[in-house]
Amino acid sequence: MLTLRQALLALFHQFETLFHYLEHLCRHRSAARPGRSSFLHSSVEIQVKETLIRNLWYVAGTSDEFAPGQLVGQTIVGLPLVLWRPEAGGEVVAFDGRCCHKRMPLAAGKLLADGTLECAYHGLCFDSAGKCVKIPSQPGRAIPSRAKLRPYPIVEQDGMVWIWMGDDANPALRPPRIPELASPEWEAIRVQNAEVPTNYLLLIENLLDISHFYPLHDGNIGDIANSEIPVEFSHEGVQGNRSVTSVRKAESYRHPPYLEDFFGYELVDRHHSHSMISPAAIRVDLRCAPPGRLETEDERGYILTHLITPIDERHHRWRVIAACRAGHRWPADPSVSTVARVAEKFPGVIAQDLWALTEQQKMLDLADTHYLGEMHLRADTGILKAREIVRDMVAAEAQPASQAVAA
Ligand code: FES
Ligand SMILES: [Fe+2]
Repeated sequence: MLTLRQALLALFHQFETLFHYLEHLCRHRSAARPGRSSFLHSSVEIQVKETLIRNLWYVAGTSDEFAPGQLVGQTIVGLPLVLWRPEAGGEVVAFDGRCCHKRMPLAAGKLLADGTLECAYHGLCFDSAGKCVKIPSQPGRAIPSRAKLRPYPIVEQDGMVWIWMGDDANPALRPPRIPELASPEWEAIRVQNAEVPTNYLLLIENLLDISHFYPLHDGNIGDIANSEIPVEFSHEGVQGNRSVTSVRKAESYRHPPYLEDFFGYELVDRHHSHSMISPAAIRVDLRCAPPGRLETEDERGYILTHLITPIDERHHRWRVIAACRAGHRWPADPSVSTVARVAEKFPGVIAQDLWALTEQQKMLDLADTHYLGEMHLRADTGILKAREIVRDMVAAEAQPASQAVAA
């Protein structure tokens, strides 16, 4: 006669055997599909070919990237765009980047003196509402109502131009605020604006993952002692966006000389967090002070805003803006602001991350044949949550409209 404990154990082993069989089956199926490397072999699997989210606000650029009267052509989540700020100033406008006549890229056209956009092929002209106002080959004839461009909603705030790439803008979802970038109490400097030849999720995962600071950043922001500080995680919402945060808190921590150079402290209490405030933006907040002096006038630190704009499944644009409190100076030369010193030094860190992302992408481009699958650590908790958020958003867009509304 089996005891209850023996019966439960037997049941558990049955489930375990079934689980291992299913796991093996999933890996075998993945390996059998050449060119279909996947990010993950578990309940949060995301195929590399299926990561783009349209129902989201993305940064199309910082405000200064839109000089009045200049056309800007871009591709975001695989969709071509033309954007411009009217010559007279005011709000940036954005439209589908293909001419409604024969798909000529409108960014190859020009803005005329009257403020209209002239297509470079047959000269159709469009006003800043996207309406066709001139067809040179049909003078005197009515312009068909079908002659227009598909507009995209734009919100300009905190010195950034955000664009909604989905169908109808969801009023519950707003571009996350990044107040340091527009506050006189902070100084901000752009550190990076580059096209990266990798899937954007690799960057999200890199930025949420504080555990790679050793060895990838050994000698600048990282060291082995930092890797041993426990990581905590939290999940909350930011302006309707699901977010995930990794935090490392340390007391009486001897941080690397690279950071001592910025702030002048060798031994610190430190609060260091990386938050995905939406899949389009990650905020890094590092604060330090001599032991017991956090949240006093001795506190120093930086905010790094990472803006992630997918171009397609294989490319994204990465913008980084560093911000420090106005008035904080570089201890080695007080004529230099702390943020200027951070902005001067950080490209070296970014280059190391770019190298890692590019190497990972090369491996993702291969079939998973004979690869045993990713093995995740406790420090990957935040990454797995981010994958879950992205997977859910991608899946929601795949639903028929009637179900999406019901959800
Ligand atoms: S393709 Fe634009 S005017 Fe013909
Ligand atoms: Fe890094």
